[in-house]
Amino acid sequence: MSLAGKAQFGPGVSRNVGEIARKLGVSSAVLVTDATMEQLGTAERISGYLHDAGVECCLFAGVEPEPSVETTDAVAELAREHDCRLVVGLGGGSCMDVAKAVSVLITNTGSAGQYQGLGLVPNKGVPKIMIPTTAGTGSEVTFTAVLIRKSDGVKGGINDEKLFPDFSLLDPELTLSMPPCVTAATGMDALTHALEAYTGRNASPFSDLLAEAALTRIGRFLRVATWNGHDLEARSEMLLASYYAGGALANAGVGACHALAYPLGGMFGVGHGMANALLVPYVARHNALSRPEKYATAAVFLDAGAEELPLRDQALACADVLDELVADLELPSTLKALKAGITAEHFPEMAGKAMGVARPMENNPRPMTKESCMALYKEAME
Ligand SMILES: [Fe+2]
Repeated sequence: MSLAGKAQFGPGVSRNVGEIARKLGVSSAVLVTDATMEQLGTAERISGYLHDAGVECCLFAGVEPEPSVETTDAVAELAREHDCRLVVGLGGGSCMDVAKAVSVLITNTGSAGQYQGLGLVPNKGVPKIMIPTTAGTGSEVTFTAVLIRKSDGVKGGINDEKLFPDFSLLDPELTLSMPPCVTAATGMDALTHALEAYTGRNASPFSDLLAEAALTRIGRFLRVATWNGHDLEARSEMLLASYYAGGALANAGVGACHALAYPLGGMFGVGHGMANALLVPYVARHNALSRPEKYATAAVFLDAGAEELPLRDQALACADVLDELVADLELPSTLKALKAGITAEHFPEMAGKAMGVARPMENNPRPMTKESCMALYKEAME
């Protein structure tokens, strides 16, 4: 078990980016972010901290919500041109994923598309610092960068230990501006990481510790962070939860919910967090009796109030508490409610694609088939 890189946590720690860069001895960095961070002035502040430390900063603020291979290649080209020896990722999972990929593209030739797969990156990247501004993806502590190829719409991860960030600066003040819908969806992504790592076949006592730390915080603080975004305690606890859940995922992987969620993103443009939030209660109900002790404990962490029930009912209460959470967060709870044009005719293709997401499927506690995927989509329809 490992937790990659060094992490600092607390209001204001993002200003330490300059000091870290100075200690690394670099003279030029690329800051990878999106239009929201530029509009909020956060990108300017972070580049200011770098500048004050004597580090020249190249800004790229064009990362899209579903980041592409093409965008990543363009940022890498910019970084190579300016001889950037440090990458700073500022934003949600998309920005951090692109930043991680750029770090290894600076030291390896060619396109990001060549490295989609597992362990295909030959050379170590330049140092990378992640500054998350959402609380959910856990990208600041994982070795994956998920990128979509614009040419054929196929989504694939660069999965390689060389993508582990060197530093994560967890500054809850940067998450205060997240609107409720983003807070809710990204928070549910973190919850899904923790739950799938906790109940998966690769779970270990170490990943369990991280997953438990995440689940208890999410059960207690996700509603508050969503509906009272100025509550710094709730924001802080959710940012920690996201980091812990990411650590659990980095060590134990995710499961069928993530695999089933991918086609919703790839085929219909549904956001990753929202897709997981929608599916996670159905998957929990499907899996609960294959690993009842774990689902029962997860239900307790999520505050289901099911401690007095028999084990079977406790395990199933996990799915019920997830239903309640999705409803409280006002997220769509059926495929129909997404209004994304999904019909039963799409299920065979969606199920085929989900089964193709091999590692999460193999990690799921209850073995999955194309038929069981179709049955799950059907159940989630309305
Ligand atoms: Fe996720």
